[in-house]
Amino acid sequence: MYKIAVIPGDGIGKEVMEATLHILEVLDIDFNYKFADAGDEYAEETGVALPQETIDIVKDSQACLFGAAGESAADVIVRLRQELDLYVNLRPVKSYPGTNSIFNNLDFVIVRENTEGLYIGLEEYTEDGATALRVVTKNASERICKFAFEYAKKTNRKKVTAVHKANVLKKTDGIFKEIFYKVAQDYPDMELDDRYVDATAMFLITKPQMFDVIVTTNLFGDILSDEGAGLVGGLGLIPSANIGEKQGLFEPVHGSAPRHAGKGTANPSAMVLSAVMMLDYLEEHEEARKLENALINVLSEGKVVTRDLNGESSTMDMAREIRRKLEEKI
Ligand code: NAI
Ligand code: MG
Repeated sequence: MYKIAVIPGDGIGKEVMEATLHILEVLDIDFNYKFADAGDEYAEETGVALPQETIDIVKDSQACLFGAAGESAADVIVRLRQELDLYVNLRPVKSYPGTNSIFNNLDFVIVRENTEGLYIGLEEYTEDGATALRVVTKNASERICKFAFEYAKKTNRKKVTAVHKANVLKKTDGIFKEIFYKVAQDYPDMELDDRYVDATAMFLITKPQMFDVIVTTNLFGDILSDEGAGLVGGLGLIPSANIGEKQGLFEPVHGSAPRHAGKGTANPSAMVLSAVMMLDYLEEHEEARKLENALINVLSEGKVVTRDLNGESSTMDMAREIRRKLEEKI
């Protein structure tokens, strides 16, 4: 029995969460869900976007499923990452059949440092403009590089690439690169290299098959992972994991999509794939593959899929179809 915090949030976050929980019911795993409030709607009622109670519920759980927040996203998801020290942002870039993926054979992952870099938000006005502080510590670099190598080893990946701009940012990215090669010494069987972020941005479009695991700092990781999302068919399909020492928080990359909210048209795939990542995190690999394969079946048939996948089905119809495929297999 796993203790799972569930934060549906706002807009289509609630819809894709309902769809995903409906599918998870038929897996051979017992979840003890603790539902928690956060987001715009909750803030309208109470004046607070992320109550302490929700933070406590997540802290007391093994994993958290998060739908999406609206305008309060920074106060909710960014704050949760900090409160729980979720220092890894894991973004798989994988092409699935029946989608608008530009390539049909992509499967790599971006491991983004989630706690420092330019995103600590220390900006200051100066006489003539403003400055932002970019913080790179040896500790944070070491733990993210270690995570990347451990993850690569565990998932049978062959290569880890560090992405940086150490030729210009000689001190900050210099440290990141140095620590990467130091950590790599513990993984002599792993292929490795390092690349500049600008060249990486180009190679992601011209030769993305060259990547397996990319490890990088916060802002570069944010930008490159959106580029990765663009390569494999857009927001309705892209999951993510935020991982710390004690918990994992799993969420689609998309937001609350207010224009789609309440219409039942949102694609549940990104949330379903986030649940797949949660199952892998909980070491429930067999169930993870079953769920992923049921989704792949529905995507490749292309019959019961949402509008963004050129279908006409609703969020819940697509969810019921995924659930039916799962039940057929059981
Ligand atoms: P968004 O991801 O909510 O939507 C952008 C567009 O992507 C939508 O209009 C829709 O065309 C498409 N889309 C996204 N998810 C889809 C799905 N499941 N199925 C089909 N199409 C989908 O981003 P936007 O419009 O920039 O932001 C809307 C709100 O969401 C804002 O208030 C923003 O702050 C919040 N947000 C929250 C995030 C989070 O909670 N992690 C992340 C990003 C945005
Ligand atoms: Mg982003």
